[in-house]
Amino acid sequence: MDNGWENSAQAWIDSLGERGDRGDWGRQHVLDPVMIARVSGGRFANALDVGCGEGRFCRMLNGAGVKAIGIDPTPALIEAARKRDPFGDYRLGRAEELEFPDASFDLVVSYITLIDIPDFRAAIREMARVLRPGGSLLMANLTGFTSACCDRGWVTNEEGEHLHFPVDNYLSEYPLWLEWSGIRVVNWHRPLSAYMNAFLEAGLILTFFSEPEPSSGEEEHQERARRVPWFVVMEWQRPG
Ligand SMILES: C[S@@+](CC[C@H](N)C(=O)[O-])C[C@H]1O[C@@H](n2cnc3c(N)ncnc32)[C@H](O)[C@@H]1O
Repeated sequence: MDNGWENSAQAWIDSLGERGDRGDWGRQHVLDPVMIARVSGGRFANALDVGCGEGRFCRMLNGAGVKAIGIDPTPALIEAARKRDPFGDYRLGRAEELEFPDASFDLVVSYITLIDIPDFRAAIREMARVLRPGGSLLMANLTGFTSACCDRGWVTNEEGEHLHFPVDNYLSEYPLWLEWSGIRVVNWHRPLSAYMNAFLEAGLILTFFSEPEPSSGEEEHQERARRVPWFVVMEWQRPG
């Protein structure tokens, strides 16, 4: 099934700025500080970034001293990743079927990709398989509370005031076509329990959980971002 990423690749690349380091508001002001803190401090020597896109977080991992390989099924994004980081290791691949042997990585990262992956249960099994014992799977994702709404978004009044953010059809799993900034892709809504059970069934242990708040950005945008549970960050460890 076409997930829209090949046709949206250029718009996605453009949205990250000329050098690919800008990121959208949520990455820049909410997620990056948490994600970078988790991968810093010499805890990990090597990493696999699953669904690396045009390589933004691989470049950040390398900057934090973690040698990263990025995989992504969208050819135009892998091509852009190689251009932006000619010495990096970027490969075409899908999360559901990783080409790497068991226990290859200290760290596996999924930075807002589980929502894009059709068979997320197979993907989580694969990510756990390629982790070495004691290694960590670090994931950031849109919460199910947000994806159960994001085809409609905020309810506003005539003055444009943001009234509330409705949640509907929360407990089911289903795909949605979403559009923003010239990007049109499929995102999968799943309740939090679907992800938690898949991590537990893969034999992983939860070691970090956060619904991060904005740490920078314009005050008005921050206030609005604090009203909705947009993101979740978790670190799951493969028992040693
Ligand atoms: C929202 S982008 C995130 C890119 C990158 N992680 C970042 O934060 O800049 C989602 C990515 O998931 C990738 N993707 C879609 N289906 C996938 C799959 N089955 N396995 C791995 N990645 C997938 C898309 O090609 C896209 O690059």
